[in-house]
Amino acid sequence: SSAVPVITIDGPTASGKGTVAHRVAKALGWTVLDSGALYRLTALAALNRGLSADDEPAVAGVAETLDVRFDGPHIYLEGREAGHDIRREEVGNFASRVAAFPRVRQALLERQRAFRLAPGLVADGRDMGTVVFPDAPLKVFLVADVVARAQRRCKQLIEKGISANLDDLLRDMRERDARDMGRTTAPLAPAADAHVLDSSDLTVAETVQAILDFWKRASADR
Ligand code: CDP
Ligand code: CDP
Repeated sequence: SSAVPVITIDGPTASGKGTVAHRVAKALGWTVLDSGALYRLTALAALNRGLSADDEPAVAGVAETLDVRFDGPHIYLEGREAGHDIRREEVGNFASRVAAFPRVRQALLERQRAFRLAPGLVADGRDMGTVVFPDAPLKVFLVADVVARAQRRCKQLIEKGISANLDDLLRDMRERDARDMGRTTAPLAPAADAHVLDSSDLTVAETVQAILDFWKRASADR
């Protein structure tokens, strides 16, 4: 196919999608799309306006007019650095609630597809392989045991100087997983043609290598 290649990495929260996506992109010299950041930015903008997570029309309005800029490791919302604020669990939970709204998802669809630039894109999220890039030549569904994921997220938040508690995280993550898998529009699920990869007992480097190996095989078949 002559289309710009995409590797999609979907999976539940803290399965390692973002970390692994960045490293795979770096190894290949490709662009990366953190689609969850767009949902988190929508959530942060809505929270800043005091909106309720139940108000679909108002939150969809925010998504439709979202003023964001990605610049390397920096993410700007309405001109202000927001990369740190969007990682708060409160923002993730609000994002997961409003991500169930079809109008919010629709508003972010073309914005995500615009990241598909040569020589290639690594896109991580929940519906990259099922909805946003259904023609991607390589789809990975990254999973890991929920306790392993809670421990990873706890460590990661504390390292960033954000307070975190393992029991609260475990409860919030189970809730968020159930909501992401249970929604009607673009539920979290592997695409029929995805490779399901369990990273519970893998290091980041091993997970990255497994995906690069999949890509080597997939591109040999193209
Ligand atoms: O993007 P997602 O929420 O799926 O996860 P992440 O933020 O990329 O990763 C959560 C944390 O797990 C990071 O601190 C990673 O270094 C760590 N981790 C991992 O991603 N993969 C492993 N195999 C082991 C640890
Ligand atoms: O880092 P973590 O995996 O916890 O979350 P994220 O990828 O930043 O996404 C935050 C929330 O946005 C998720 O719980 C999903 O509900 C939603 N999301 C989505 O619906 N579709 C995507 N492609 C990406 C994120």
